[in-house]
Amino acid sequence: MTLYRAAVMDTPRDPLVEGPDALRADADAGLLVRDGVVAARGPFAAVAAAHPEEEVVDLRAGVLLPGFVDTHVHYPQVRIIGGLGMPLLDWLTSCALPEEARLADAAHARAVAREFVDGLVRAGTTTALVFGSHFPGATDAVFAAAEAVGLRMTAGLVVGDRFLPEPLLTTPDAALAHGRALLEKWHGRGRLRYAVTPRFSLSTSDAMLEACAELLAAREDVWFTSHLNENPTEIEEVRRLFPGAGHYLDSYHQHGLVTARSVLAHNVHPTAHELEVLAGTGAAVAHCPTSNCSLGSGLFPLAAHLDAGVRVALGSDVGAGSGFCLLKEGLQAYFVQRLLGPHGVDLGPAALLHLATRAGALALGLSDQVGDLAVGKQFDAVWVRPQPGTTLDVVLRHGADAPDALAKIFTLGTPSDIAVVWVAGRTVSGPSAPVPPPLP
Ligand code: GUN
Ligand code: ZN
Repeated sequence: MTLYRAAVMDTPRDPLVEGPDALRADADAGLLVRDGVVAARGPFAAVAAAHPEEEVVDLRAGVLLPGFVDTHVHYPQVRIIGGLGMPLLDWLTSCALPEEARLADAAHARAVAREFVDGLVRAGTTTALVFGSHFPGATDAVFAAAEAVGLRMTAGLVVGDRFLPEPLLTTPDAALAHGRALLEKWHGRGRLRYAVTPRFSLSTSDAMLEACAELLAAREDVWFTSHLNENPTEIEEVRRLFPGAGHYLDSYHQHGLVTARSVLAHNVHPTAHELEVLAGTGAAVAHCPTSNCSLGSGLFPLAAHLDAGVRVALGSDVGAGSGFCLLKEGLQAYFVQRLLGPHGVDLGPAALLHLATRAGALALGLSDQVGDLAVGKQFDAVWVRPQPGTTLDVVLRHGADAPDALAKIFTLGTPSDIAVVWVAGRTVSGPSAPVPPPLP
């Protein structure tokens, strides 16, 4: 057992529903961690008095937060982060898809998988919903890399049977067979789960979506993820390709793919009916603000989602997104809502923390295990501890109160300010993190 002593902030309640007081900020907390689980929590003096024999790890020089939950990120796209200046379909054609085709090479895929998992944990992400590769071997490699490091990951083989470059195309039968093999190997193994992952409606026929539905039905706790309403040209093309669908969401919904185990990325341009269907089914939306800004996709209508009762969490959308760190996504989400003026949502620091942690856990059906640091939860945590003398260090030393400190962490924080990251009580990034095995 280990007793951690720290300033701790988390959001077991939703500040967007209950207001900024939903931030739980304990200036000098004791968290007793046993077998990777928070076994006791309270004022440090009280927890230490009740457990005088435990080793104390003193983290008072920084701030302890729950590990971040990234609900939308692409493993094959690590090396193309920063491809600026294009709208979605041009960026896919000239930047993302050629890079994804390179993962046909197994050694290359293993290297990228390690860079990807390493990038996530260095940024403080402890749980992620991941777009795998179009290649089964490369998708297997990202599961193996996540397992080696200890990341909590839900991922799947990405499938499509049109629009894509020839090497990325597959058939419904092959998608089903390869998906089933990966699901049987990885789903439920440690912290790993499988997600059925058609790339987007534009790259999938009805027959392919039907194969996806068959795989999704294979097990009760398998997840579904794809893209939705990201860009006006894309939406127009989906309308043309699916004349029988009422709208973009319907192209998935007609196949039974929209449920409480579905996470749809972007939804920048939804119709009122799509929001109704998302709310009614309990499906969640992954809001990816840096990607939406980088590709010029649009300003996310968060208020309309919340008013309709749609669940929203954050995604980095690497590689269209500008990096792995959900602190940056939180800040960009805040900026976007500011730009919407009276139509924007006032995203205070507590709301940003909730979006980056517990909202993601809720979207992924993992809120009984992660998302906050309550007793009984897994000790998935990040220790924000900027290097002395950095601007974040300076402003934190002059901060007023906990919400103010949290606002500063979202404004200035980068992966270099995240000193230690734990998943289930084990260090996955930081001084005593295990060194990943070398490439064969
Ligand atoms: N739509 C289909 N594929 C992608 C992708 O890789 N990134 C983004 N942002 N949108 C997509
Ligand atoms: Zn994406």
